[in-house]
Amino acid sequence: MAELNQAPGTASQDWVARSLRSVWHPCTQMQHHETVPLIAVSHGRGVWLYDHEGKRYLDGISSWWVNLFGHANRRINAELRDQLDTLEHAMLAGFTHEPVVQLSEQLSALTGGTLGHAFYASDGASAVEIALKMSFHYWRNSGRSEKQEFVCLEGSYHGETIGALAVTDVALFKDAYGPLLRAARTVASPDARLARDGETTQDVARRAAADVEKLFAERADKIAAIIVEPLVQCATGMAMHDPLYLTLIRELCDRYQVHLICDEIAVGCGRTGTFFASEQAGIWPDFLCLSKGISGGYLPLSIVLTRDSIYQAFYDRDVTRGFLHSHSYTGNPLACRAALATLAIFRDEDVLARNRTRAAQLNEALHPLADHPRVRNARQRGMIWAFDAIEDDADKAATFSRRFFAKAVENELLLRPIGRTMYLMPPYVLSDDETALLAERTLRTFEDVIAG
Ligand SMILES: Cc1ncc(COP(=O)(O)O)c(C=O)c1O
Repeated sequence: MAELNQAPGTASQDWVARSLRSVWHPCTQMQHHETVPLIAVSHGRGVWLYDHEGKRYLDGISSWWVNLFGHANRRINAELRDQLDTLEHAMLAGFTHEPVVQLSEQLSALTGGTLGHAFYASDGASAVEIALKMSFHYWRNSGRSEKQEFVCLEGSYHGETIGALAVTDVALFKDAYGPLLRAARTVASPDARLARDGETTQDVARRAAADVEKLFAERADKIAAIIVEPLVQCATGMAMHDPLYLTLIRELCDRYQVHLICDEIAVGCGRTGTFFASEQAGIWPDFLCLSKGISGGYLPLSIVLTRDSIYQAFYDRDVTRGFLHSHSYTGNPLACRAALATLAIFRDEDVLARNRTRAAQLNEALHPLADHPRVRNARQRGMIWAFDAIEDDADKAATFSRRFFAKAVENELLLRPIGRTMYLMPPYVLSDDETALLAERTLRTFEDVIAG
């Protein structure tokens, strides 16, 4: 490793230069790196990422919402080392293995057995593709092949692959690929910020559900499924809604025979205060997509949980009635083992109760920001905080996110606002001091950016 011999102080710059020459970074206009810093991470510990010079960055967004229990978590590391010496991978067609069986059983148990079967993939978008295909194929196997349409919410985000993008409603990600996509029907978002004068969050939920009812009444016979991000539509800018919306949508799906797909890729695994966000509405979907945090943020793993009644519609002598979807790494044992370690931490360390205390503490520490005159819509759900910056200058508004990122880095934080929405989604293992530091530095960064 030639890099180890380099003069101190040059290692990060060198990795950055080489990265910019050879790596095409995700979700990035690469030219922006002419002004926005690229950070070369050397290692991680707990909530911190370190560069090659030892400068640290508090991972305030859990590395794109995946990390739960800190970087280089001892327990997950130990389980993975053990798994490495046992079985790194075996194909899942015709074979099975302990980690995938245990994980499927434990996830089913977490739904009280309602979602009894688990199908595996690697990234969130793949799980969404699977749920869409399964729903479509279920109706076909059930003699209802006219049910082919999908419904998504305004501002929805379900991933970047062609099928997932078709049920995504974020123009920035979608517009360029419009001609490639099969149009989905879009219904009103229950985003609580859309409350009209005198309306409660529940009123907004009812109004948005009425939009779904209108569509279902017109054409439920053509609709296979509606896909929702329960409680928080994250990628559109942490749009939060009342759990009542999910309860109402579940009733409508039952009444009109439309599948409910809950995309818990971002909001599952305790992020909103319960293990599954759907639990807060007292409902179970027909398909539940998990990814990101389920492996503790260690390895690409995604899962679609579904009801046994759906599984049974594919169980047949006829091979073409089966779900013939696959990915090479389906059910990878290492990823499943990381997920088992993650679930064990939830069981043994009373994570949800501890998160409630941590959330209250961070909420308290963030008061100066929530009350700031240039802040509106300060909001929180479980371990997610967000606010919208008031920035009337159009040029400044357009670059708010990039300027915030750069300033945050100077203040030892990794934060990446979505447009003018600043949010925090830290790993669950923040200490008291780290909680205070995160709140204080976020405020400092915000004031610097607003002043700039
Ligand atoms: C709700 C939701 N669904 C799907 C995805 C896509 O997951 P991935 O990026 O792993 O493909 C994301 C990613 O942010 C997401 O937030």
